[in-house]
Amino acid sequence: MPQIVHLNGTFTPIDQAFVPVLDRGFIFGDGVYEVIPVYSRHVFRLEEHLKRMQHSLDGIRLQNPHTDGEWAALLTALIAQNEGNDQYIYLHITRGVAKRDHAFPKDVAPTVFMMSSPLVTPPRELCESGVSAVSAADNRWDRCDIKAISLLPNVLLRQIAIDHGAVETVMFRGGTLTEGAASNIFAVENGVILAPPKDNHMLPGITYDLILELAAANGIALEIGKFSEARIRAADELWLSSSTKEILPITSLDGLPIGIGKPGELFWKMYELYQDYKMRIMRSPH
Ligand code: PDD
Repeated sequence: MPQIVHLNGTFTPIDQAFVPVLDRGFIFGDGVYEVIPVYSRHVFRLEEHLKRMQHSLDGIRLQNPHTDGEWAALLTALIAQNEGNDQYIYLHITRGVAKRDHAFPKDVAPTVFMMSSPLVTPPRELCESGVSAVSAADNRWDRCDIKAISLLPNVLLRQIAIDHGAVETVMFRGGTLTEGAASNIFAVENGVILAPPKDNHMLPGITYDLILELAAANGIALEIGKFSEARIRAADELWLSSSTKEILPITSLDGLPIGIGKPGELFWKMYELYQDYKMRIMRSPH
């Protein structure tokens, strides 16, 4: 079964989907995107993803081409046409195709692209071993709350991790923690989860919100704030979260152990809560 994608109202095999070279996504990186997990063919937190997408569209002053109901129908159709019960949807909207000019084009339809790929979440063994990360200065713009397709800074920052055999780059701006190059970051200090605030210097992660919700619902102490680099390096635990990686323990940063250099107690608690939450979604009616 070929991978089927959606492009501007048409479902087609991926090798037959083409975008004109003058698409503003190609020319300017002028667009926004979402990554939405699908577990057992259930879309994960659709309402939250659509809300964040609207925030991103508002941030770049692009009108939403579909209602939430239309998005839901398109996603259902895309999921049905692709193999595998666990998938992740990459959804991408650009300002459309127009003569190259920085100014917004008039009366141009946005380009809407959606693709589904198999969702392979990290195996439990990776949670048991933990992952390593490196750090870097967060040199991105001041609207990191927009999930923009122009990801060059994130690409360069993440590559620093890859070059060091690590999985993620943890970023600090003005001496405090912001997020990872493609994930949100949490720390744990004396049994309290430390999380950076959802401001313009980080992407408001859907997984981040779920972790905060699960913490609140289960009486786990939480502090939201700007945490210094020294405090993060001295934390007992460090985690990363994203739609495709779920939650992973970072056990070393820049080659030095975090805490005792092993996944911590609170990580396992949150991991189990997260897996339970997922199970409930998978068992719920469609
Ligand atoms: N990235 N911060 C950044 C910069 C990200 O790119 C991501 C996710 C997150 C986590 O957000 P969420 O929990 O909603 O996935 C935080 C996705 C997975 C990507 O670009 O592939």
